[in-house]
Amino acid sequence: MSSNLISNAILTIRNVSKSYENGFKALININLQIKRGEIVAILGPNGAGKTTLISIICGIVSKSTGEVLVDGDSIIDKFRITRSKIGIVPQELHVHEFESVWSTLQFTRGLYGKKPNKEYLESILKSLSLWDKKDQKVMTLSGGMKRRVLIAKALSHEPSILFLDEPTAGVDVELRKDMWRIVSELREKGVTIILTTHYIEEAEEIADRIAIMTRGELILIENKDSLMKKLGKKELLLELKKPIKSIPTSLSKHKLEISQDGNQLRYNFNSQSSDKGIANLLDDLKKAKINYKDLHTKQSSLEEIFVELIKESK
Ligand SMILES: Nc1ncnc2c1ncn2[C@@H]1O[C@H](COP(=O)(O)OP(=O)(O)O)[C@@H](O)[C@H]1O
Ligand SMILES: [Mg+2]
Repeated sequence: MSSNLISNAILTIRNVSKSYENGFKALININLQIKRGEIVAILGPNGAGKTTLISIICGIVSKSTGEVLVDGDSIIDKFRITRSKIGIVPQELHVHEFESVWSTLQFTRGLYGKKPNKEYLESILKSLSLWDKKDQKVMTLSGGMKRRVLIAKALSHEPSILFLDEPTAGVDVELRKDMWRIVSELREKGVTIILTTHYIEEAEEIADRIAIMTRGELILIENKDSLMKKLGKKELLLELKKPIKSIPTSLSKHKLEISQDGNQLRYNFNSQSSDKGIANLLDDLKKAKINYKDLHTKQSSLEEIFVELIKESK
Protein backbone atom coordinates (compact mmCIF):
# COMPACT_ATOMS: atom_id res chain seq x y z
CA MET A 1 0.00 0.00 0.00
CA SER A 2 1.37 3.40 -0.84
CA SER A 3 1.32 6.09 1.78
CA ASN A 4 1.95 9.72 1.11
CA LEU A 5 4.89 11.00 3.05
CA ILE A 6 3.96 13.10 6.02
CA SER A 7 6.67 15.57 6.92
CA ASN A 8 7.39 15.78 10.62
CA ALA A 9 5.46 12.58 11.37
CA ILE A 10 5.62 11.46 14.98
CA LEU A 11 5.61 7.82 13.91
CA THR A 12 6.88 6.25 10.71
CA ILE A 13 6.60 2.54 10.01
CA ARG A 14 8.38 1.38 6.88
CA ASN A 15 8.19 -2.08 5.36
CA VAL A 16 7.76 -3.77 8.72
CA SER A 17 7.25 -7.53 8.66
CA LYS A 18 7.22 -10.02 11.49
CA SER A 19 7.63 -13.77 11.44
CA TYR A 20 7.41 -15.42 14.86
CA GLU A 21 9.87 -18.14 15.76
CA ASN A 22 7.45 -20.87 14.69
CA GLY A 23 7.49 -19.32 11.20
CA PHE A 24 4.09 -17.67 11.49
CA LYS A 25 3.89 -14.42 9.52
CA ALA A 26 2.07 -12.05 11.82
CA LEU A 27 2.86 -8.85 9.87
CA ILE A 28 3.39 -8.43 6.14
CA ASN A 29 5.09 -5.28 4.91
CA ILE A 30 3.35 -2.63 7.01
CA ASN A 31 3.76 1.01 5.95
CA LEU A 32 2.19 3.73 8.01
CA GLN A 33 2.81 7.31 9.09
CA ILE A 34 1.11 9.08 11.94
CA LYS A 35 0.86 12.81 12.42
CA ARG A 36 1.54 14.61 15.67
CA GLY A 37 -1.60 14.94 17.76
CA GLU A 38 -3.63 12.52 15.69
CA ILE A 39 -5.95 9.87 17.08
CA VAL A 40 -5.77 6.71 14.99
CA ALA A 41 -7.93 3.67 15.61
CA ILE A 42 -6.68 0.32 14.35
CA LEU A 43 -9.53 -2.06 13.70
CA GLY A 44 -9.23 -5.69 12.81
CA PRO A 45 -10.42 -9.13 13.81
CA ASN A 46 -8.61 -11.22 16.41
CA GLY A 47 -5.25 -12.39 15.16
CA ALA A 48 -4.93 -9.57 12.61
CA GLY A 49 -1.59 -8.50 14.09
CA LYS A 50 -2.60 -5.35 15.95
CA THR A 51 -0.88 -6.25 19.22
CA THR A 52 2.20 -7.46 17.36
CA LEU A 53 2.50 -4.13 15.56
CA ILE A 54 2.08 -2.10 18.75
CA SER A 55 4.54 -4.37 20.60
CA ILE A 56 7.16 -3.82 17.89
CA ILE A 57 6.81 -0.03 18.08
CA CYS A 58 7.15 -0.19 21.86
CA GLY A 59 10.20 -2.45 21.71
CA ILE A 60 8.49 -5.41 23.37
CA VAL A 61 8.69 -7.63 20.27
CA SER A 62 11.46 -7.49 17.67
CA LYS A 63 10.58 -6.99 14.01
CA SER A 64 11.91 -9.25 11.28
CA THR A 65 12.37 -6.53 8.66
CA GLY A 66 11.76 -2.83 8.20
CA GLU A 67 12.19 0.33 10.16
CA VAL A 68 10.30 2.22 12.86
CA LEU A 69 10.97 5.90 13.55
CA VAL A 70 9.59 7.74 16.56
CA ASP A 71 9.82 11.50 16.14
CA GLY A 72 12.39 10.91 13.40
CA ASP A 73 14.63 8.58 15.44
CA SER A 74 15.06 4.86 14.90
CA ILE A 75 13.68 2.76 17.77
CA ILE A 76 16.77 0.56 17.47
CA ASP A 77 19.54 3.18 17.31
CA LYS A 78 17.91 5.51 19.83
CA PHE A 79 16.01 3.07 21.97
CA ARG A 80 16.05 5.03 25.23
CA ILE A 81 14.97 8.38 23.85
CA THR A 82 12.31 6.94 21.55
CA ARG A 83 10.95 4.64 24.25
CA SER A 84 10.71 7.51 26.72
CA LYS A 85 8.29 9.27 24.36
CA ILE A 86 5.92 6.29 24.37
CA GLY A 87 3.33 5.18 26.85
CA ILE A 88 1.51 1.88 26.46
CA VAL A 89 -1.51 0.40 28.13
CA PRO A 90 -1.17 -3.26 27.19
CA GLN A 91 -4.00 -5.58 26.26
CA GLU A 92 -3.06 -8.18 28.84
CA LEU A 93 -3.36 -7.39 32.50
CA HIS A 94 -0.04 -8.40 33.98
CA VAL A 95 0.77 -6.49 37.08
CA HIS A 96 3.28 -8.02 39.44
CA GLU A 97 4.14 -5.06 41.61
CA PHE A 98 4.66 -5.73 45.29
CA GLU A 99 5.13 -1.99 45.67
CA SER A 100 2.52 0.63 46.43
CA VAL A 101 0.70 2.44 43.64
CA TRP A 102 2.63 5.61 44.44
CA SER A 103 6.11 4.09 44.34
CA THR A 104 5.27 2.13 41.19
CA LEU A 105 4.45 5.38 39.43
CA GLN A 106 7.52 7.17 40.74
CA PHE A 107 9.68 4.26 39.68
CA THR A 108 8.21 4.09 36.17
CA ARG A 109 8.64 7.82 35.71
CA GLY A 110 12.28 7.58 36.79
CA LEU A 111 12.88 4.63 34.49
CA TYR A 112 12.27 6.90 31.51
CA GLY A 113 14.64 9.53 32.80
CA LYS A 114 12.03 12.02 33.94
CA LYS A 115 12.60 14.18 37.01
CA PRO A 116 10.24 13.51 39.94
CA ASN A 117 7.02 15.51 39.75
CA LYS A 118 4.66 14.85 42.62
CA GLU A 119 2.00 17.26 41.44
CA TYR A 120 1.81 15.60 38.04
CA LEU A 121 1.58 12.07 39.45
CA GLU A 122 -1.02 13.24 41.94
CA SER A 123 -3.13 14.69 39.12
CA ILE A 124 -3.00 11.40 37.19
CA LEU A 125 -4.02 9.37 40.21
CA LYS A 126 -6.86 11.75 40.97
CA SER A 127 -8.18 11.69 37.41
CA LEU A 128 -8.20 7.89 37.56
CA SER A 129 -9.89 7.78 40.99
CA LEU A 130 -6.80 6.09 42.40
CA TRP A 131 -5.70 8.78 44.84
CA ASP A 132 -7.13 7.06 47.90
CA LYS A 133 -5.36 3.84 46.83
CA LYS A 134 -1.94 5.41 46.44
CA ASP A 135 -0.42 3.66 49.47
CA GLN A 136 -1.89 0.25 48.72
CA LYS A 137 0.22 -2.47 47.20
CA VAL A 138 -0.71 -2.88 43.54
CA MET A 139 -1.10 -6.65 43.81
CA THR A 140 -3.84 -6.27 46.43
CA LEU A 141 -6.08 -4.22 44.13
CA SER A 142 -9.06 -5.51 42.15
CA GLY A 143 -8.76 -6.20 38.42
CA GLY A 144 -10.41 -2.92 37.48
CA MET A 145 -8.14 -0.94 39.80
CA LYS A 146 -5.07 -2.73 38.42
CA ARG A 147 -6.07 -1.65 34.95
CA ARG A 148 -6.34 1.91 36.21
CA VAL A 149 -2.81 1.57 37.59
CA LEU A 150 -1.63 0.40 34.14
CA ILE A 151 -3.08 3.55 32.61
CA ALA A 152 -1.45 5.70 35.29
CA LYS A 153 1.87 3.94 34.66
CA ALA A 154 1.58 4.55 30.92
CA LEU A 155 1.07 8.26 31.60
CA SER A 156 3.60 8.60 34.43
CA HIS A 157 6.43 9.87 32.20
CA GLU A 158 4.28 12.27 30.15
CA PRO A 159 4.56 10.40 26.85
CA SER A 160 3.88 12.17 23.58
CA ILE A 161 2.50 8.99 22.00
CA LEU A 162 0.06 6.80 23.87
CA PHE A 163 -0.86 3.30 22.75
CA LEU A 164 -4.06 1.79 24.06
CA ASP A 165 -4.40 -1.87 23.11
CA GLU A 166 -8.06 -2.88 23.42
CA PRO A 167 -8.44 -0.43 26.28
CA THR A 168 -12.13 -0.95 26.90
CA ALA A 169 -12.43 -4.70 26.35
CA GLY A 170 -13.98 -6.14 29.48
CA VAL A 171 -13.72 -3.01 31.62
CA ASP A 172 -16.55 -1.56 33.66
CA VAL A 173 -18.62 1.39 32.49
CA GLU A 174 -16.97 3.81 34.92
CA LEU A 175 -13.50 3.04 33.65
CA ARG A 176 -14.65 3.33 30.06
CA LYS A 177 -16.04 6.77 30.76
CA ASP A 178 -12.88 7.83 32.59
CA MET A 179 -10.77 6.48 29.76
CA TRP A 180 -12.53 8.49 27.07
CA ARG A 181 -12.42 11.60 29.22
CA ILE A 182 -8.67 11.14 29.66
CA VAL A 183 -8.23 10.53 25.93
CA SER A 184 -9.93 13.81 25.08
CA GLU A 185 -7.89 15.66 27.71
CA LEU A 186 -4.69 14.20 26.24
CA ARG A 187 -5.81 15.12 22.74
CA GLU A 188 -6.20 18.72 23.91
CA LYS A 189 -2.60 18.60 25.08
CA GLY A 190 -1.47 17.40 21.66
CA VAL A 191 -0.67 13.80 22.63
CA THR A 192 -0.83 11.35 19.72
CA ILE A 193 -3.07 8.38 20.49
CA ILE A 194 -3.15 5.04 18.75
CA LEU A 195 -5.74 2.60 19.90
CA THR A 196 -7.06 -0.77 18.91
CA THR A 197 -10.63 -1.53 19.68
CA HIS A 198 -13.45 -3.91 19.07
CA TYR A 199 -15.97 -1.22 19.89
CA ILE A 200 -16.27 0.25 16.44
CA GLU A 201 -18.67 2.90 17.71
CA GLU A 202 -15.89 4.25 19.87
CA ALA A 203 -13.51 4.45 16.93
CA GLU A 204 -16.23 6.17 14.96
CA GLU A 205 -16.63 8.76 17.67
CA ILE A 206 -13.07 9.41 18.70
CA ALA A 207 -10.65 8.73 15.83
CA ASP A 208 -9.34 11.11 13.18
CA ARG A 209 -8.16 8.23 11.02
CA ILE A 210 -9.12 4.60 10.82
CA ALA A 211 -6.70 1.82 9.94
CA ILE A 212 -7.96 -1.65 9.13
CA MET A 213 -5.80 -4.76 9.48
CA THR A 214 -6.54 -8.33 8.54
CA ARG A 215 -4.22 -11.32 8.55
CA GLY A 216 -1.06 -9.33 9.03
CA GLU A 217 -1.79 -6.71 6.41
CA LEU A 218 -2.80 -3.11 6.69
CA ILE A 219 -5.57 -3.05 4.13
CA LEU A 220 -6.64 0.53 4.60
CA ILE A 221 -5.84 3.76 6.40
CA GLU A 222 -8.11 6.64 5.76
CA ASN A 223 -9.47 9.80 7.24
CA LYS A 224 -12.60 8.79 9.11
CA ASP A 225 -14.89 11.34 7.53
CA SER A 226 -13.85 10.55 3.98
CA LEU A 227 -14.05 6.83 4.71
CA MET A 228 -17.63 7.23 5.86
CA LYS A 229 -18.40 9.34 2.80
CA LYS A 230 -16.70 7.05 0.34
CA LEU A 231 -17.89 3.73 1.62
CA GLY A 232 -20.91 4.66 3.65
CA LYS A 233 -24.02 3.61 1.83
CA LYS A 234 -27.30 5.21 2.53
CA GLU A 235 -30.60 3.52 2.81
CA LEU A 236 -34.01 4.99 2.19
CA LEU A 237 -36.89 3.33 3.99
CA LEU A 238 -40.43 3.88 2.84
CA GLU A 239 -43.29 3.03 5.18
CA LEU A 240 -46.21 2.18 2.94
CA LYS A 241 -49.80 3.16 3.63
CA LYS A 242 -50.99 -0.25 2.48
CA PRO A 243 -48.89 -3.40 2.32
CA ILE A 244 -48.01 -4.75 -1.12
CA LYS A 245 -47.40 -8.38 -2.06
CA SER A 246 -44.70 -7.82 -4.64
CA ILE A 247 -42.82 -5.07 -6.38
CA PRO A 248 -44.44 -4.02 -9.68
CA THR A 249 -42.21 -4.54 -12.73
CA SER A 250 -42.39 -0.82 -13.46
CA LEU A 251 -40.21 -0.37 -10.36
CA SER A 252 -37.74 -3.18 -10.99
CA LYS A 253 -34.95 -0.87 -12.18
CA HIS A 254 -34.74 0.66 -8.68
CA LYS A 255 -33.75 -2.69 -7.14
CA LEU A 256 -36.03 -2.27 -4.17
CA GLU A 257 -36.28 -4.72 -1.33
CA ILE A 258 -39.61 -5.45 0.27
CA SER A 259 -40.11 -6.34 3.93
CA GLN A 260 -41.74 -9.65 4.83
CA ASP A 261 -45.03 -8.06 5.85
CA GLY A 262 -45.04 -5.93 2.69
CA ASN A 263 -45.26 -2.69 4.68
CA GLN A 264 -41.79 -1.39 3.96
CA LEU A 265 -39.63 -0.77 0.93
CA ARG A 266 -35.89 -0.38 1.17
CA TYR A 267 -33.80 1.48 -1.39
CA ASN A 268 -30.00 1.65 -1.31
CA PHE A 269 -28.15 4.59 -2.73
CA ASN A 270 -24.58 5.74 -2.64
CA SER A 271 -24.10 8.78 -0.47
CA GLN A 272 -21.80 10.28 -3.11
CA SER A 273 -24.26 10.05 -5.97
CA SER A 274 -26.81 12.71 -6.68
CA ASP A 275 -30.36 12.50 -5.39
CA LYS A 276 -31.75 11.93 -8.85
CA GLY A 277 -32.25 8.24 -8.16
CA ILE A 278 -34.53 9.05 -5.26
CA ALA A 279 -36.50 11.62 -7.23
CA ASN A 280 -37.04 9.10 -10.02
CA LEU A 281 -38.01 6.44 -7.53
CA LEU A 282 -40.63 8.63 -5.84
CA ASP A 283 -41.97 9.56 -9.24
CA ASP A 284 -42.26 5.93 -10.29
CA LEU A 285 -43.94 5.03 -7.00
CA LYS A 286 -46.55 7.66 -7.65
CA LYS A 287 -47.17 6.33 -11.15
CA ALA A 288 -47.54 2.82 -9.71
CA LYS A 289 -50.01 4.24 -7.17
CA ILE A 290 -48.00 3.08 -4.21
CA ASN A 291 -48.44 5.57 -1.40
CA TYR A 292 -46.22 5.92 1.59
CA LYS A 293 -46.92 7.50 4.95
CA ASP A 294 -43.33 8.09 5.96
CA LEU A 295 -39.79 7.90 4.63
CA HIS A 296 -36.44 8.03 6.37
CA THR A 297 -32.80 7.56 5.50
CA LYS A 298 -30.16 5.65 7.38
CA GLN A 299 -26.40 6.00 6.90
CA SER A 300 -24.38 2.82 7.26
CA SER A 301 -22.20 2.71 10.35
CA LEU A 302 -18.47 2.21 10.46
CA GLU A 303 -19.24 -1.30 11.68
CA GLU A 304 -21.09 -2.12 8.46
CA ILE A 305 -18.28 -0.63 6.37
CA PHE A 306 -15.76 -2.66 8.35
CA VAL A 307 -17.63 -5.92 7.86
CA GLU A 308 -17.85 -5.25 4.11
CA LEU A 309 -14.13 -4.48 3.84
CA ILE A 310 -13.10 -7.58 5.75
CA LYS A 311 -15.36 -9.63 3.48
CA GLU A 312 -13.83 -8.14 0.33
CA SER A 313 -10.27 -8.81 1.42
CA LYS A 314 -10.87 -12.55 1.88
N1 LIG B 1 4.76 -15.39 20.25
C1 LIG B 1 4.05 -15.79 19.19
N2 LIG B 1 4.42 -16.87 18.48
C2 LIG B 1 3.71 -17.26 17.39
N3 LIG B 1 2.60 -16.67 16.96
C3 LIG B 1 2.17 -15.58 17.63
C4 LIG B 1 2.86 -15.10 18.78
N4 LIG B 1 2.20 -14.00 19.23
C5 LIG B 1 1.14 -13.82 18.41
N5 LIG B 1 1.12 -14.78 17.45
C6 LIG B 1 0.14 -14.90 16.37
O1 LIG B 1 0.22 -13.76 15.55
C7 LIG B 1 -1.08 -13.39 15.08
C8 LIG B 1 -1.35 -11.95 15.43
O2 LIG B 1 -1.53 -11.84 16.83
P1 LIG B 1 -1.83 -10.44 17.52
O3 LIG B 1 -0.82 -9.47 17.08
O4 LIG B 1 -1.99 -10.68 18.97
O5 LIG B 1 -3.24 -10.09 16.84
P2 LIG B 1 -4.40 -9.08 17.34
O6 LIG B 1 -3.84 -8.20 18.41
O7 LIG B 1 -4.79 -8.35 16.10
O8 LIG B 1 -5.50 -9.96 17.83
C9 LIG B 1 -2.05 -14.37 15.72
O9 LIG B 1 -2.36 -15.38 14.78
C10 LIG B 1 -1.28 -14.93 16.88
O10 LIG B 1 -1.69 -16.24 17.17
MG1 LIG C 1 -4.47 -7.84 20.32
